[in-house]
Amino acid sequence: MNDHVSQSAGGMRLIIVGAGVMGISIATLAVSRGVRVSLVDNDPDKAASAPDRVAGEVRLATLLKAITAGAPRGELVVTGSLAGCGPADAVIEAITEVADDKIRVLKEVSSAVGGHVPLITNTSSIPVDELAAGVPHPEAVLGIHFMNPAYLIPTVEMIPGSRTSAGTVQRATALLAALGRTGVVVGDGPGFVTSRLSHRLINDAVRIVEEGRATAEDVDLLMQGCLRHAVGPLRTADLIGLDNLADSLAILFARTGEESFRPAELLLRKVAAGDHGRKSGRGFYTY
Ligand SMILES: NC(=O)c1ccc[n+]([C@@H]2O[C@H](COP(=O)([O-])OP(=O)(O)OC[C@H]3O[C@@H](n4cnc5c(N)ncnc54)[C@H](O)[C@@H]3O)[C@@H](O)[C@H]2O)c1
Repeated sequence: MNDHVSQSAGGMRLIIVGAGVMGISIATLAVSRGVRVSLVDNDPDKAASAPDRVAGEVRLATLLKAITAGAPRGELVVTGSLAGCGPADAVIEAITEVADDKIRVLKEVSSAVGGHVPLITNTSSIPVDELAAGVPHPEAVLGIHFMNPAYLIPTVEMIPGSRTSAGTVQRATALLAALGRTGVVVGDGPGFVTSRLSHRLINDAVRIVEEGRATAEDVDLLMQGCLRHAVGPLRTADLIGLDNLADSLAILFARTGEESFRPAELLLRKVAAGDHGRKSGRGFYTY
């Protein structure tokens, strides 16, 4: 096991737990930089479809010129459990936004890889200290909030917890350099900076549609045309995944008590109906 992550991605080994929207997106970024990725998902269907989904994202990222065509790719190994992964220089946890599940996975990962390997959580909303408290090596835990899609957006939010060691931050920074990402270090707390700001806005955009004040299309048009948003809050909601958005809002509401984070009824109805956004083919828009 390496206890150092070098600036060069060549030979680097990364374990990513969770092969959903973000696991696939981060795996795409990593293999495109020559990193060997072990991708773990406990849902057999998600694991079985992961290689094709990564290959699809690599094609899309190449078309978008986000990754270089013909550059050496890292190997991708997909497994159903950590046992099949082997050693790693860093681990990224990207499972469903449920605190207890994340703590269970981080504990398991910590015993599998040891205390010196950075345990990076990609949580959108759960404080890093809360997750680290349940793990045998809290000094190895830190948050890196990759944005979606990770291969297209070069800036990430980096969140050391109060017990995260300087060595962990240094190794994670080297990993980000090898992935060509720039980390902005922020303080710990529900939603950090980006989700605290964006999820409140998206939730209010859903409420506007629910009240009948404007359609989803018109809310997005106004936010794009007037306020220069790239795609608008409701297309962003569909890209994130409405199920993940509702989970994150529920966590933000539970941790802060702020009404603005209480998940909008329309959002909850869409999630219950299986309309999860892009990943299910329908959300506020149809794909
Ligand atoms: N979707 C986004 O735009 C976005 C952006 C930044 C951060 N995040 C965060 O990234 C994380 C993942 O989000 P997502 O959108 O990819 O979710 P998702 O629902 O698309 O995927 C989650 C995956 O985790 C798997 N999983 C659940 N429990 C597991 C376990 N115990 N072991 C292995 N695999 C397990 C599920 O089978 C699923 O494939 C969440 O913490 C989310 O808040 C999401």
